[in-house]
Amino acid sequence: MLRDQLNRPLLDLRISVTDRCNFRCVYCMPEIEGKEYCFLKREQLMTFEEIYRLANIFVGLGVRKIRLTGGEPLLRKEIDVLAGMLANIEGLQDISLTTNGFLLKKYAGKLKKAGVNRINVSLDALNDEVFAKLNGNKAKSAVILEGIEEAVSNGLTVKVNMVVKKGWNDQEILPMARFFKEKGIILRFIEYMDVGTLNGWKMDEVVTSKEIHDFINKEMPLEPLEANYLGEVAKRYRYVDSKVEIGFISSVSQAFCSDCTRIRLSADGKIFTCLFASNGVDILSVMRNGANDEELKSIIESIWSNRRDHYSEERGKAVSAKKRIEMSYIGG
Ligand code: GTP
Ligand code: 5AD
Ligand code: SF4
Ligand code: SF4
Repeated sequence: MLRDQLNRPLLDLRISVTDRCNFRCVYCMPEIEGKEYCFLKREQLMTFEEIYRLANIFVGLGVRKIRLTGGEPLLRKEIDVLAGMLANIEGLQDISLTTNGFLLKKYAGKLKKAGVNRINVSLDALNDEVFAKLNGNKAKSAVILEGIEEAVSNGLTVKVNMVVKKGWNDQEILPMARFFKEKGIILRFIEYMDVGTLNGWKMDEVVTSKEIHDFINKEMPLEPLEANYLGEVAKRYRYVDSKVEIGFISSVSQAFCSDCTRIRLSADGKIFTCLFASNGVDILSVMRNGANDEELKSIIESIWSNRRDHYSEERGKAVSAKKRIEMSYIGG
């Protein structure tokens, strides 16, 4: 098994299929006066065939799970066709997607048919005023909830991701917890992270997992559960009086770099190991210049075996001034 310098195996691949998004979340791709986002051009994007070819090589190197991300992955035309191609790769155990849910009602059935097992849907509030402030006034929660319903009724396993930003949606923690407990859907609270350079991140806007846990635990007691698999980012809990699970993703207060088994492929075919990296390796250009599979494989092997990044564990040590890729480009 391929291991990096910190002895971490390569198990997961996150593929961004577009850097575009129909939302403007304040913590990711905020609307900034006078700023126009500049997106990749069509010819810069990996084609489905290119993604499929690289994914096969990654699976040959040990990857067992693929997650499609964006920007917003459902904006990529015929994303279900790509999912179907990837689902046929021998040795791949899990294919999933992370979406803002706006187009999920339309795509849930197609994705399930294509072989997707699971979907993570971002939703930061039920209250529309609060939600609109967070997503740049692009959607109401009912639309996302309909998408979630459609996914569940098509047999997809759904988890809901809620990024908590202090002073913005902390009042929605309990309503969200109650609502998804009742629905029997896993809700995960995500600590607001200092990804990218545009969100103006400040430590005092982070609500820690412990604070959220203690707050919920007072009204609805929780008990911890074992991790599902090595490298799971969420710490799992269960409501004591039901089977429903809840999770906490604590990248800021309790970094999980020592179990980081993830590699990332941007929509323009660059490989990044850490979410907080500044530069990636342009494997798409190498491929387009005629490299064969063996050559591509050895580049990936070398990237992983030399890897030693662990940004979240080092946060706070004067590393923050560097140029950093944006979340909307790399997909989390
Ligand atoms: P599961 O397979 O369902 O556990 O998915 P996941 O939680 O790994 O993926 P998802 O896209 O839902 O991500 C949830 C949150 O975790 C997002 O805020 C991601 O940015 C964050 N996340 C995922 N992987 C990493 C990572 O390697 N490092 C850090 N710091 N955050 C991550
Ligand atoms: N901090 C934490 N999570 C974030 N996401 C996007 N930006 C941030 C941030 N700054 C989340 C999205 C989505 C996932 C891919 O990453 O809400 O659930
Ligand atoms: Fe929001 Fe996700 Fe779009 Fe970023 S990519 S703006 S987190 S919906
Ligand atoms: Fe992995 Fe980097 Fe996230 Fe740490 S900060 S878990 S090394 S992606």
